[in-house]
Amino acid sequence: MRNLDSDAFVFFGATGDLAYKQIFPALQAMIRRGHFNMPIIGLARSARDLDQLRARARESLEKHGGLDSGAFAVLSERLQYVNGDYGSEQTFRDLRKALGGASRPLYYFAIPPDLFVTVVQGLASAGCNKDARVVVEKPFGRDLASAQALNRLLLQSFPESAVFRIDHYLGKEPVQNLLYFRFANSFLEPIWNSNYVRSVQVTMAETFGMEGRGKFYDEIGAIRDVVQNHMLEVIALLTMEAPTGRDPDALRDEKQRAFRAMRPLTPGDVVRGRFHGYRKEDGVASDSQVETFAAIRLHIDTWRWAGVPFYIRAGKRMPVTATEVLVELKRPPQEVFDTITQRQANYVRFRLSPNVSIALGARAKMPGEAIVGEDVELVVRPGSGDEMMPYERLLGDAIRGDPLLFVREDSVEAAWGVVDPILGNVTPVHEYEANTWGPVETEQIMSGDDRWHNPQPSAEKTLAAKE
Ligand code: BG6
Repeated sequence: MRNLDSDAFVFFGATGDLAYKQIFPALQAMIRRGHFNMPIIGLARSARDLDQLRARARESLEKHGGLDSGAFAVLSERLQYVNGDYGSEQTFRDLRKALGGASRPLYYFAIPPDLFVTVVQGLASAGCNKDARVVVEKPFGRDLASAQALNRLLLQSFPESAVFRIDHYLGKEPVQNLLYFRFANSFLEPIWNSNYVRSVQVTMAETFGMEGRGKFYDEIGAIRDVVQNHMLEVIALLTMEAPTGRDPDALRDEKQRAFRAMRPLTPGDVVRGRFHGYRKEDGVASDSQVETFAAIRLHIDTWRWAGVPFYIRAGKRMPVTATEVLVELKRPPQEVFDTITQRQANYVRFRLSPNVSIALGARAKMPGEAIVGEDVELVVRPGSGDEMMPYERLLGDAIRGDPLLFVREDSVEAAWGVVDPILGNVTPVHEYEANTWGPVETEQIMSGDDRWHNPQPSAEKTLAAKE
């Protein structure tokens, strides 16, 4: 069979934050595993020359994951640098030259979304798009209309099978395990619906703030940065039906149906927050209206999920860094023994990071004469094994042309369709103190007597925000 793997790795934004934190470490890891044997071409405006780019690659590896001198020597030797403006034809002529005999390049757009159009046009007019693949970072567009326009533009120069919309959450082991755990076991399916599930919460909390990304973040905000993509992807994996068949599109078809079943949000479903001091961060406008926190109530309009609220919280400067899914089950119909005071006694908890685990919350009798129970957890803690970093896994898949863990055109647009009505400052931004769980208004999102559950730093049991 003809080998259709890409034969050159080209990345735009070679001196940017993403290349520094993720791409150089992923390239080094692929080289170390012996998976990667092709030229690496970085494009940027700001590095003076190849030596400066090599120095930046070295520094990036020293800071992110550690330098492996053998693998770095190979990376450094394969690295080429094309310096230039993305608006200039000369840049793409230089790229053409750097590609040499490579005939199936992979282009990675590690650049702000407003540059995608210029780069796609530059590639197409220099004829660099032939037999090529393109990896596009999130956020893919700024809203539904711009995502549709971007899809149209990309698809003029590349077929859908050559477009890899990356969401690094899909490359994470515990995120893949959401799907595996659901469909490789039979005990969840009977309860995985509105008859047994009371609510679902997904929390993505980060203690840190902007860390040098203020300028980028201030054009995006939490909803575009992590809700439209990471959070909705997680909810799609939790709610989708089992795929019929094993080809990548069988799974992507079901995921697409899950996105389409998400009811578009209304302003009443959302509370936005901004941590105190955000407007003073480097690169942030002093009158910024961007949110660093969002709390959302979402509904899924399917027979399986009708009436079950899905709650999302994502924020910077929270009290812990943790991402967790809590599927809370309904209470038993009758209290046969003691009073079950802990409302969340039965649940399935997927801890996605850090300290990955899956836990089932249950009640068990405490030893002793009295018939009194306590909350316990049955916990699965997968060993770390030889876990691949998400970027290493996803770049490897894109190089091989495997689309399974990438977002398809229709899904990215459906996900934008969910958040589109709440973009554009249609809701106020409330200030919150750093190291808290967001503005007090967040409580308004909860239906009935539902409560937020805050992930614990240690991955121990999740506790209700207020007992
Ligand atoms: C990125 C967001 O996509 O995901 C960041 O742009 C966020 O704001 C990051 O911090 C979190 O990813 P991870 O893998 O570190 O949990």
